[in-house]
Amino acid sequence: MENIHLNIEKAFGFVSKEQVYAQETKANECMATLHQGTGAGNDFLGWLHLPSSITDAELTEIENTAEVLRSKCEIVVAIGIGGSYLGTRAVVEAMNNSFDWLHTADRKNPILLYAGHNIGEDYLYELSEVLKGKQFGIINISKSGTTTEPALAFRILKKQLEDAVGKEEAKHRIVAITDAKKGALRTLADQEGYKTFVIPDNVGGRFSVLTPVGLLPIAVAGVNIRELVAGAVSMEKATDESVPFAENMASIYAAVRNELYKSGKKIEILCNFHPKLHYIAEWWKQLYGESEGKEGKGIFPAAVDLTTDLHSMGQWIQEGERTIFETVISVANPNHNVTVPTDEANLDGLNFLAGKRVDEVNKMAELGTQLAHVDGGVPNLKITMPAVTPYYIGQLFYFFEKACGISGYMLGVNPFNQPGVEAYKKNMFALLNKPGYEKESEAIKSRL
Ligand code: PA5
Repeated sequence: MENIHLNIEKAFGFVSKEQVYAQETKANECMATLHQGTGAGNDFLGWLHLPSSITDAELTEIENTAEVLRSKCEIVVAIGIGGSYLGTRAVVEAMNNSFDWLHTADRKNPILLYAGHNIGEDYLYELSEVLKGKQFGIINISKSGTTTEPALAFRILKKQLEDAVGKEEAKHRIVAITDAKKGALRTLADQEGYKTFVIPDNVGGRFSVLTPVGLLPIAVAGVNIRELVAGAVSMEKATDESVPFAENMASIYAAVRNELYKSGKKIEILCNFHPKLHYIAEWWKQLYGESEGKEGKGIFPAAVDLTTDLHSMGQWIQEGERTIFETVISVANPNHNVTVPTDEANLDGLNFLAGKRVDEVNKMAELGTQLAHVDGGVPNLKITMPAVTPYYIGQLFYFFEKACGISGYMLGVNPFNQPGVEAYKKNMFALLNKPGYEKESEAIKSRL
């Protein structure tokens, strides 16, 4: 089996190879800090050896629970936000048919829908309408068990499910994934008698896709979670501290992006030329945004889908402020084959493409874009995935996680906390008059 691959050659006109390789000692030190658990946030390193420590029994339990939901439900709603949602959506959107919801007859898998990732009243209304008369189930995911968005969605959908099938049957269609002991969701799940899975204490939300947080809903959607984990295991080995800097793609990525940052490139744009990878970028944005954006520091993680966004953001990328660099996820081989047909009249002038695969056109667009952007002053890093499969997505997840840990330490921040996420919550609770927020409530209202 091949590995995903990182190429940084097209960054060298902007930072030199020597500069990047001069980071070897620092990157190795940060790697050692991670592995020895001596750095900031060292109580959140459970993800480091997570892939290789998942047992067959754990996977079987997840698959068995998924099977119960699959056998009972036409639709399963995965409730969660941030790290409790994005990894699942990244895998499911990449692996399942883009028009999945239209395939109503002869379905092999339940439709996976999402809730609790916003506070949209219309969204919840429409979701609740679509669930009427359907056999549905719920996977409620919250590490803290206290996050408002998923708790609100769960309260509404739990009632709808209980009203539809009765409290007793609802119990068999609800699974909770949360902390082993703490949080409102743990209390609720224990009292109601739901099947539960535990998110380990030492795995932060954005690093939790390979725990039941991601694995259960992904299995429900019919994606092979064993392949996903196997890919991550292989990347755990490929980026281990025993692998020298020059061959270690996690260290190299961490080093080059930190050098680019020091040279004034403050924004990293993750680009894909494969629209099904859109949510991989959303997952990546949380991983790097929450891990590095603190203490007035950190590369801003942005993302575009190409060629789609070349027709909206292309101008900015080509000629806007030169503070950006790009990381392109390139897929070597699509899973399907579509050839451009010949047209006798050739009124669209496209006969020069007749007989070529659509992917060949896409690849030339990718190459043309890379060169145009480099010429326009945008350093380019390229990650090649041999194909979009659970195995390579597993590799990609672990690669980005490992590089993120090293990169955060190279930047000099604690990559495993997210203190800034609390600020809006405090204000929101004060504005909503939550008990316990009386003082904040008075203070904030005086500012309105
Ligand atoms: O990275 C994190 O820990 C957070 O951003 C969480 O992913 C997000 O807030 C969801 O939290 P929870 O799973 O506790 O509901």
